[in-house]
Amino acid sequence: MSNVVVFGSQWGDEGKGKIVDILAENCSAIVRFQGGNNAGHTLVVGGKQEILHLIPSGILHPGKKCAISNGVVLDPAVFLAEVDKLAAKGLDVSPSRLMISKKTHIIMEYHKLMDGCREAAKSAEAKIGTTGRGIGPCYEDKAHRCGIRAGDFQDLELLAAKITEALTEKNVLFKHLYGAEPLDPAKVLADLKPVAARIVPYLGDVSSAIQEAEKTGDILFEGAQGTHLDIDHGTYPYVTSSNTVVGNAASGSGCGPRKLERIIAIVKAYTTRVGGGPFPTELLDKVGDRLQSVGGEFGATTGRKRRCGWLDMVVLKESCRLNTPTELAITKLDVLSGHEELKICVAYDYRGEQVEYPPQEQNGMAFSSPIYETLPGWNEDITATRSMEELPANAQAYLARIEELSGVKVGIVSVGPDRAQTFMR
Ligand code: GDP
Ligand code: IMO
Ligand code: MG
Repeated sequence: MSNVVVFGSQWGDEGKGKIVDILAENCSAIVRFQGGNNAGHTLVVGGKQEILHLIPSGILHPGKKCAISNGVVLDPAVFLAEVDKLAAKGLDVSPSRLMISKKTHIIMEYHKLMDGCREAAKSAEAKIGTTGRGIGPCYEDKAHRCGIRAGDFQDLELLAAKITEALTEKNVLFKHLYGAEPLDPAKVLADLKPVAARIVPYLGDVSSAIQEAEKTGDILFEGAQGTHLDIDHGTYPYVTSSNTVVGNAASGSGCGPRKLERIIAIVKAYTTRVGGGPFPTELLDKVGDRLQSVGGEFGATTGRKRRCGWLDMVVLKESCRLNTPTELAITKLDVLSGHEELKICVAYDYRGEQVEYPPQEQNGMAFSSPIYETLPGWNEDITATRSMEELPANAQAYLARIEELSGVKVGIVSVGPDRAQTFMR
């Protein structure tokens, strides 16, 4: 028995949701520990697709407990819409199996407005390309110690006072800096009250719930985004506003770091990125277009086209040293079928010097050109393969090279979007 952490090793959308859905079957509880509804996690079961933004990807397995912990930022209306959508499909999404930490910060109307104002005020190249979901401004308020927490929904007087205090400052910015309509605290509160009333039954102590669930099985921690979107270790400032690295599974959920045992890096067999920021292996040619169309690379949250490129081992090696994975899960290997040759970036040329890890200067990756190794491709459709041995020799060699360069074994291979299109080693 061991608890499991699933994390994204690139810039998000590696297929975390799919792998969490598969692993959830053998766990007692699934916990989302950071991020918010900037995430879009896609599950496909028997051809039916489900996209989850906030509710843990274990929810499709009846009886498994699901929790949204303190490290998450929660848009309550989005949460309730997700609850209603799943309930309409006959799933149990009642508070008996779904919990929100009282310490979880709430994304308010003014956070979304601020996100939009800030992005609109930036020049084209400075835009982060956020999802516009209010993620950054909500985490800012958390750090600024004026955030609204889910537990505040139990105390409407406290809630009213905190909204008034927050807007006293923010309305000055809206009105005088951004030329936006200021928000009326009374209206913000009135709009929130019915939503808050529906959230209260879901409130709980997630830290204790994890401790309890451990008595009957393993806990599965579901990361969102990817290591290179981490607020500290990512391509700052083109990052999200939370720590996406595995260490945050402990602080973001209220359990000790020794509880994190099996650590699975989700690795897309090539690289994608949505939004702004440097991307050394990006392919702005027919090969990139092909990865985008064959891979169906559109954002699960915003519908934006994902930028595509070759696998970047500099990115993956950095993820391995920051997260110490015990295994890799390689996803979307099927998308690489049909290329005569495949490239893997093994180092960067950074201002004339060869480097094996991303430069730490701001925007250093923008001044890095990839140094490639070329491997032979394969033509076979591999979507029906269910073991390492069934894969074409060149696909096996591609995986072996990833293992060699990262120093971590491949434990899971995904060859299609469906739950069934996966095999474990
Ligand atoms: P997440 O954010 O990491 O959960 O990933 P997303 O759900 O945003 O994006 C992954 C996309 O790839 C989704 O559309 C999945 O259904 C799809 N997908 C996952 N694994 C595979 C795979 O092995 N092959 C193919 N073709 N698609 C996959
Ligand atoms: P999942 O969990 C891919 C990106 C945005 C933008 C940057 C900051 O599905 O892998 P934010 O709204 O967080 O302030 O945006 O981060 N981003 C993601 N990209 N997958 C995600 O989540 C992402 N969540 C945020 O596109 O570049
Ligand atoms: Mg996604």
